[in-house]
Amino acid sequence: MLDIRIEKVSSYKEKPADESKLKFAKVQTDYMFLMNYTEGEGWHDARIVPYGPFTLDPSCTVFHYGQEVFEGLKAYRSADNKIQLFRPDCNAKRMNDSAERLCIPAIPEEDFIQAVKALVEIEKDWVPHIDGASLYIRPFSFACDVGLGLHTALNHLFCIIVSPSGAYYPEGINPVRIYVEDEYVRAAPGLTGYTKCGGNYGASAKAAEKAEKLGFTQVLWLDGVERKYVEEVGSMNLFFKIDGKIYTAACDGTVLPGVTRRSCIELLKDWGYEVIEGKLAIDDVMKAGHDGTLEEVFGTGTAAVVSPVKELDWKGDKVFICNGEIGPLTQKLYDNLTGIQWGKLPDTKGWMDFVCNG
Ligand code: COI
Repeated sequence: MLDIRIEKVSSYKEKPADESKLKFAKVQTDYMFLMNYTEGEGWHDARIVPYGPFTLDPSCTVFHYGQEVFEGLKAYRSADNKIQLFRPDCNAKRMNDSAERLCIPAIPEEDFIQAVKALVEIEKDWVPHIDGASLYIRPFSFACDVGLGLHTALNHLFCIIVSPSGAYYPEGINPVRIYVEDEYVRAAPGLTGYTKCGGNYGASAKAAEKAEKLGFTQVLWLDGVERKYVEEVGSMNLFFKIDGKIYTAACDGTVLPGVTRRSCIELLKDWGYEVIEGKLAIDDVMKAGHDGTLEEVFGTGTAAVVSPVKELDWKGDKVFICNGEIGPLTQKLYDNLTGIQWGKLPDTKGWMDFVCNG
């Protein structure tokens, strides 16, 4: 159990006047959580302090060698004004799986959840009140030894920031266009594809920039070895409904094991769908798109929630999905998942974790 010291702010920031205009994680709140790790002492000095810049030595490890991992989860205000988290235990575990790969010390799962809840509780007035908005929570850890030698870092910092947020994509829940990347790769066996490390996202920037210039919202990554099988979109896992069956890439080292992904798979199986987690060739997706059996494509992610895809472009070949509309299964998943998250549907799976009254 952490002993969390709280340093009060001297004045509070203005809350967003119109929550319907919230973008994704652009607003800074009053507080952040910090905790240091020092070899021999372990994690220590847990504190909630006024939100603000860090002072770090320019030779700090993370600036040069990118040793950093992060998480993303949300706090929701329910219809009966309770503040709740969605499956924070899954984030705590995944954070440690990522940290293990990046040689960053693990944080006991109960400490991670306690820290998240303590910060959310102190910031509970920042949790939006309207449907479609929530408090996005970004925990991250990084190595902060001073000096440029490559070695196992002995000092680390764990931080949590929160931000009231609306939809991740400017399109909202409207369908997005996806560019199937044919030049760059995101992950390969043995690398860090399954982790949430900053490096995965930094290395994706070039492809994202190219896709954006061409008018696409995101890039669909193919496997890094054969450049043949669909993997993920970077900000979300991707699902394909082909001839009644649901396909998504397996989480076998190169794909992020999404919390929303596994939750959607559970819901889909409950509804009687066959969900196939495995290899799906982009050629077969495009073929299904042309012969009319590609019924729906959607992405899942904490930030993206459940996001419909209306177009896939692969080497100049295009398929259009669901006439540019939100598919019925995509809408059902979105409604059920957000219904549980916003406390409008019963939480029969025990996914919601109470923080405090709003
Ligand atoms: C999330 O969905 O929480 C993520 O971390 C994805 C990021 C690109 C916003």
